[in-house]
Amino acid sequence: MDLGLTGKVALVTGASGGIGGAIAEALARQGCDVVAAARSAEALQELAETIGRDANRQVVPCIADRREADGGARAVGTAEEEFRCPDILVNNAGSTKRGDVFALSEGDWREGFALKFFGYVRMTRACWPLLKAAPGAVVNIIAIGGRTQGPIETNRLWARLERYAEETGLGLEEARRRLAREIRLARFGQAAEIGDAAAFLASTRAHYFQGALIDIDSGATRTM
Ligand SMILES: NC(=O)c1ccc[n+]([C@@H]2O[C@H](COP(=O)([O-])OP(=O)(O)OC[C@H]3O[C@@H](n4cnc5c(N)ncnc54)[C@H](OP(=O)(O)O)[C@@H]3O)[C@@H](O)[C@H]2O)c1
Repeated sequence: MDLGLTGKVALVTGASGGIGGAIAEALARQGCDVVAAARSAEALQELAETIGRDANRQVVPCIADRREADGGARAVGTAEEEFRCPDILVNNAGSTKRGDVFALSEGDWREGFALKFFGYVRMTRACWPLLKAAPGAVVNIIAIGGRTQGPIETNRLWARLERYAEETGLGLEEARRRLAREIRLARFGQAAEIGDAAAFLASTRAHYFQGALIDIDSGATRTM
């Protein structure tokens, strides 16, 4: 299916690895030039070179901390300088601390909101005039953890698996199988599966989607 993304410019936050890296890759493969934003300069540079070469598109790293007030403006500035605009914004950056609601400190809560809430709001506001002119699309990657679990196999999950293996005394492979079974999943999702979904949602093929919330969790969220 041609998603009509050739020649578009996408700004992806949290693109130095995991789901954001997979989204940047999926969009580049669909013909987008990409501004890949995160904090880790080295990982971003490597990703930009690999994806850019494989997809034959321009992938430009932008180093910014999404919790900082000017983080959004800096990333949009890079997109405007390098290309004419971003047509697509993917808000994905996130590493909020998991844990018991009472055990998390106020600082943990603040940190989470600074990144996952205000970071997304700031980016969207900074990009909005350009997205409106394009007209473009915004895809927000959020989590279903407030209701149920549907983990994707990235570093976040591996850190959790390592803790789980330590607590249970299981080997990593067995811990991986056991945790998936506990959550009642046949397997964990792969970042590329989110990448493909995000590319579709950002495309002209999804123009009739508006404010849709999509669970990509292999049925972990039970619905009729
Ligand atoms: N994995 C899952 O099971 C799962 C499930 C549901 C939702 N999600 C959501 O998917 C998104 C990506 O998760 P992931 O599993 O791919 O996580 P990950 O592998 O830990 O990647 C997180 C990304 O966010 C960036 N990031 C973190 N803090 C940042 C900051 N302050 N400023 C700028 N960038 C920052 C990281 O880059 P740097 O460290 O280089 O800055 C990295 O690129 C998150 O929003 C998460 O809530 C994940």
